[in-house]
Amino acid sequence: MTDTQIAAEALARLDMPLCDAMMTQRAVRRVHPDPVDDAVVLKCIELALRAPTGANGQNWEFIVVKDDRIKKKLAKRYRQAWSLYYRAIIRRVAARDESMAKVARAVQWQVDHFTEIPVLVVACLRLGVRDGKLPLMPLPHAAESGYYGSIYPSVQNLLLAARAMGLGASLITLPLWSVASARRALKLPHSVTPLCVVPLGWPRGRYGPTTRRPVAEVTHLDTYGNRAWGHA
Ligand SMILES: Cc1cc2nc3c(=O)[nH]c(=O)nc-3n(C[C@H](O)[C@H](O)[C@H](O)COP(=O)(O)O)c2cc1C
Repeated sequence: MTDTQIAAEALARLDMPLCDAMMTQRAVRRVHPDPVDDAVVLKCIELALRAPTGANGQNWEFIVVKDDRIKKKLAKRYRQAWSLYYRAIIRRVAARDESMAKVARAVQWQVDHFTEIPVLVVACLRLGVRDGKLPLMPLPHAAESGYYGSIYPSVQNLLLAARAMGLGASLITLPLWSVASARRALKLPHSVTPLCVVPLGWPRGRYGPTTRRPVAEVTHLDTYGNRAWGHA
């Protein structure tokens, strides 16, 4: 099949029932190096843009990275950050928890093959702040929440679109360990802050089901601790 035919088939899969997409969307880190057609990537971004933003600012910017030199720069930071995080925390947890060990192996695969992943989408927000950082003074909680909250709904839309089209995708932040280095690599102006990366490619593995805590365990009626829906 040509890349165009693969893309047409993927786009046709967007009629997947929403609940199926939500129930099976998960971090798929192992992907093939084969190209992903621009039409598929741009469709993911088009659907990402249906998400809400604080004050409807729509102040998002998406950098689609395909250039190996830029991938290498992000890969270097991902490796550094993962190695620190792994040694400090994950190694100990993974030693006694097989599900964490499995995630760690998948992350290690992604770190080791980062430059082979065909497309990295870097989701950014444009803000009128100095040095692209939040002000040193603490922001009111609602403003801080509104800041980060203006990118993640769009990223979740992107992940769901990717899942429906059969692309492997994950939401990752460790490659942005050094915001200065990411900004240099991507030539971002100071007013644009990178917040997360979504690597995209045709999956080697399968999607979901995912393991999540039960509703009753995390849901409270009116006040914290009132487990009205059955959790002891
Ligand atoms: C804010 C955020 C940052 C994340 N950063 C990374 C990351 O840097 N690397 C990575 O492999 N996964 C990262 N993840 C993915 C989580 O590990 C993943 O969503 C979680 O393990 C659940 O996976 P599942 O959907 O396959 O069950 C991140 C997820 C979130 C929400």
